[in-house]
Amino acid sequence: MTARVLVTGGLGFIGYHLCHSLLESPDVSRLTIVDNLSSTRLDYSDLEDHAEIIIDDMRNVGTGRSFDEIYHLASPVGSVGILKYSGMIAGDIIGLAERAAELAEAGGSRLLYVSSSEVYGRDGSHDEGAPQIVPCRRGARMEYALGKLTAEHVLLNRATARDLDVRIARPFNAMGEWQSARIGFVVPRFFEAALTGRPLTVFGDGTQRRSFCHVSDIVDGITAVHERGQTGHVYNVGNRDNVTTIQDLAETIRTITDSESAISLVDPTELYGPSYIEAFDKIPDVGKVADHTGWSPRLGLQQSLDKVHGHYVNRRATDLVPGAV
Ligand SMILES: NC(=O)c1ccc[n+]([C@@H]2O[C@H](COP(=O)([O-])OP(=O)(O)OC[C@H]3O[C@@H](n4cnc5c(N)ncnc54)[C@H](O)[C@@H]3O)[C@@H](O)[C@H]2O)c1
Repeated sequence: MTARVLVTGGLGFIGYHLCHSLLESPDVSRLTIVDNLSSTRLDYSDLEDHAEIIIDDMRNVGTGRSFDEIYHLASPVGSVGILKYSGMIAGDIIGLAERAAELAEAGGSRLLYVSSSEVYGRDGSHDEGAPQIVPCRRGARMEYALGKLTAEHVLLNRATARDLDVRIARPFNAMGEWQSARIGFVVPRFFEAALTGRPLTVFGDGTQRRSFCHVSDIVDGITAVHERGQTGHVYNVGNRDNVTTIQDLAETIRTITDSESAISLVDPTELYGPSYIEAFDKIPDVGKVADHTGWSPRLGLQQSLDKVHGHYVNRRATDLVPGAV
């Protein structure tokens, strides 16, 4: 049977790549995308002939519409992108998840919720059975993390109480072609600085570690969770082999781009105010998703960064965003 699929937030960074992947699947008969263009600005004209595109808030999609599968990605996103929504981030995330649940319940759809590694709220290597904690830090990032965590609980409780068919993916540090520097993601920030001769600004002392995962692997992982994960389960999706400190990442990108840009350490609160919080070390344990779905990531860090570099080289220089910090 072929499926009618809805992707919320489908014109954002991960959503755009997910939609392209879904369009290649023989199992997808009709793709509908809803996005209010509040975040990443991508040229999505290549999707227009192949999908129904609704430019609107996803809360305006009526429950009269019926889909076999829903991928729910719409959310305020990005360490910088979320700042302007401070005080409304958690409410928004939870409200959007509730709407996705209503659409899924009304249409009998299978729902995939894209949550976040931020829900762990602490340093280190994270598996799905590990405790999540609420650190004594106040700021937009904590509100985002708690919104995502609460949304997970809302959906999982609806799975029990109302037979909602839901699976949850927690991506860890997606990176790749068309990611936006504007909302704070570090890989495009560093590439755009290195390629335009501006300093690569490392937040804090640069020793914080991230494990980056190429967006093609993230998309495959999310799809694997949706297709082969167990209903009512939560899965990390990331690449634990691609760990780097942010300082080392800056140096690697400077080398790849053959750039003479300086690397400077900055206090991000001086740039963005006290609501900005830098993240902890985040490294995924991907044992559960491998066991349940057979998925594991393929692209190493150097290969992933080389792909992004190639993408920038092939883009026109005017695509670079001068002034993005
Ligand atoms: N990029 C990462 O590293 C990462 C890591 C963990 C989780 N995630 C999650 O993955 C999802 C996609 O993130 P992304 O990096 O592609 O970000 P993105 O900002 O590029 O994409 C999000 C999209 O959602 C849309 N959107 C926001 N609110 C909406 C609304 N009310 N109605 C309709 N559309 C709306 C935005 O316009 C945007 O196109 C998000 O849920 C995010 O929390 C991302």
